[in-house]
Amino acid sequence: MSGSRPITLIPGDGIGPEVTAAACAIVEAAGVAVTWDVQPAGLAAQQATGQALGAAVFESIGRTGVALKGPTGTPFGTPYRIEVGPHAMCPETTPRVYPSVAIALRKEFDLYMNLRPIRSFPTVPSRYRDVDLLIFRENSEDLYLGRERMVDADTAEAVKVITRGATERAARFACELMTKLGRKRLAIAHKSNVLKMTDGLFLRAAQGVAAGYPDIEVRDRVIDALCMELVLAPERYDCLLLANLYGDIVSDLCAGLVGGLGLAPGANIGERCAIFEAVHGTAPDIAGRDIANPMAMILSAVMMLRHLGELDAANRIEQALTSVLQRHDRLTPDLGGSGGTRAMAAAIIEAL
Ligand code: NAD
Ligand code: IPM
Ligand code: MN
Repeated sequence: MSGSRPITLIPGDGIGPEVTAAACAIVEAAGVAVTWDVQPAGLAAQQATGQALGAAVFESIGRTGVALKGPTGTPFGTPYRIEVGPHAMCPETTPRVYPSVAIALRKEFDLYMNLRPIRSFPTVPSRYRDVDLLIFRENSEDLYLGRERMVDADTAEAVKVITRGATERAARFACELMTKLGRKRLAIAHKSNVLKMTDGLFLRAAQGVAAGYPDIEVRDRVIDALCMELVLAPERYDCLLLANLYGDIVSDLCAGLVGGLGLAPGANIGERCAIFEAVHGTAPDIAGRDIANPMAMILSAVMMLRHLGELDAANRIEQALTSVLQRHDRLTPDLGGSGGTRAMAAAIIEAL
């Protein structure tokens, strides 16, 4: 089909295939001509092909520049590692080793910013109204480099790396996007009273960049107090800039403020490529039961469409989704509904 846009699709594990199927059908129903290049990755791919993350995935994303990704499973607390060898984007033959598929993709494509908007939907049951947060998570370093070792049988250590370059790049991305969106307040999270060098550098480097944006009101918050304040009065916050691990934890915390992980979308953004994926994981407890909330993945697809300049389709999907949030018979159980993943997707398509 001429003019059809190639997009890499990674269905992933657990609820991944269910929620990505919903998102893809909705993108198509909105009239965007897409050719999905389906690329298995994760635990199911490993079982089927022996490889959790093969070279074909890198070739595809390198070519399309854009991927919609379902969650991929990583076993908890085991020595599970992802080894990446030479591929279309990187001829380096020495294998790189990562803790998970998601981290391998973010690092190999240098997707240095993880953008996670969290917002209240008026008809979704939650303790708070009017939450509108934008999380800027530095996505390339911190404790996520996987530099862990057993010192002896009873002692383990992990290395936390913070660099001025990566912090400044993330802070600049945040300030530039805030300026574009007209958002005014940025809180920089840290624990520099204890992690004096790493978090101290993160704080100073981020403050240095933000000082160049006089329209942005900048404050810094120690991470523990920030978590308390977010739970107490999330409407006091606007944009948050966090290092990788704090950003991971605060993402789930903030999803909880607006009704749960089923509602929180995200984007991993680099200079050449972007991968759109929800905050949530594979949700093994509800996988395969047609009850996973597809909203987070659909809203990730909306972010992807905006990234591609498909603004009209993105707006129409958001409107259709919002209208369906009043149809309890079509919503998933986490939204207080009596429907399921497929019924909700079908209702959004009808509304479109
Ligand atoms: P999870 O996000 O999968 O689930 C946490 C809780 O939220 C569960 O009770 C789950 O049922 C619920 N939940 C999540 N998404 C939902 C949705 N769309 N609708 C309704 N309820 C939803 O977190 P976990 O259990 O800690 O992790 C499971 C697996 O997912 C692990 O292997 C983890 O490594 C992986 N994971 C992958 C990614 C990714 O690939 N981007 C992200 C997070 C976790
Ligand atoms: C997320 C996930 C990942 C992370 C895991 C699966 C590596 O929790 O995307 O939030 O910690 O970044
Ligand atoms: Mn997470």
